[in-house]
Amino acid sequence: MALVTTKEMFKKAYEGHYAIGAFNINNMEIIQGVVNGAKAKKSPVILQVSSGALKYAGPKYLKAMVDAAIADTGVDLALHLDHGPDFETVKLAIETGFTSVMFDGSHYEYEENVAKTKEVVEYAHARGVVVEAELGVLAGVEDDVKSDVHVYTDPAQAVDFVTRTGVDSLAIAIGTSHGAFKFAGEAKLRFDILEEIQEKLPNYPIVLHGASAVDPVAVATCNKYGGDIAGAKGIPTDMLRKASSMAVCKINMDTDLRLAFTAGIRKVFGDTPKEFDPRKYCGAGRVAIQATVEDKIANVLGSENTL
Ligand code: G3H
Ligand code: 13P
Ligand code: ZN
Repeated sequence: MALVTTKEMFKKAYEGHYAIGAFNINNMEIIQGVVNGAKAKKSPVILQVSSGALKYAGPKYLKAMVDAAIADTGVDLALHLDHGPDFETVKLAIETGFTSVMFDGSHYEYEENVAKTKEVVEYAHARGVVVEAELGVLAGVEDDVKSDVHVYTDPAQAVDFVTRTGVDSLAIAIGTSHGAFKFAGEAKLRFDILEEIQEKLPNYPIVLHGASAVDPVAVATCNKYGGDIAGAKGIPTDMLRKASSMAVCKINMDTDLRLAFTAGIRKVFGDTPKEFDPRKYCGAGRVAIQATVEDKIANVLGSENTL
């Protein structure tokens, strides 16, 4: 029962042709929903915290709640900083007790991304913390980083980047994007790029961001109960399953949790307008999160019964 790094998780996932789900956490109900889902499916899981989440809930609250989740369920967890924008945020996460950090220098010019990532790797490794970095640009919004176009990861550059920085895992751009509106037309991922990276970097864990499937049922429930989410489209489940059977060892999902939580809460408000007990609607959100996580573990990640 402990907070662990992702090292062992990724090794087993690579060898077992599955991926570990990395779910964004912002409050107690989300943490409980994710961890209870992981426990029910006997699967490892990564809890990740964005800088927005750090600001919203505060590092001390988040760390204390994650410790409580481990004590309550007995599930080993990795606590990861998602899209760390700068060295200060990385430092804060490590001082708080995170076991893994992402430094996202993907919006910098290449040599600057290498230099800044290397600095983070040296600092984190000296403290027993693993590092994820990103190469290529995902269309959409990454906290303060905005981009309208994909810049796919160049496989040769990925090898150079990993060799020179010593980073433990690499997030790549192959057509996924953040948020609920991923494709205007047909969904397409560049599996040829993933394959080439996998060949050039054998046994190296790759990370896929922007990997929510955007469940049409959750969107429809939100809209049925007063929401207005039009044109939402995510990554097809079969593509995610294929990626998780390849070199992709970590799959990031946040939007699917947001949709599930919101749908669960909206339904309570719609069905029982007299209700104003937060435990009733937040509790329904928590149940919806757990169901989503269980579904991901069984049908997307392939990590069921691997604990
Ligand atoms: O990649 C972004 C995650 O979905 C976190 O989103 O920055 O709004 O917390 P956030
Ligand atoms: P989604 O918006 O597809 O859930 O991606 C989340 C993510 O990549 C967090 O880093
Ligand atoms: Zn991301």
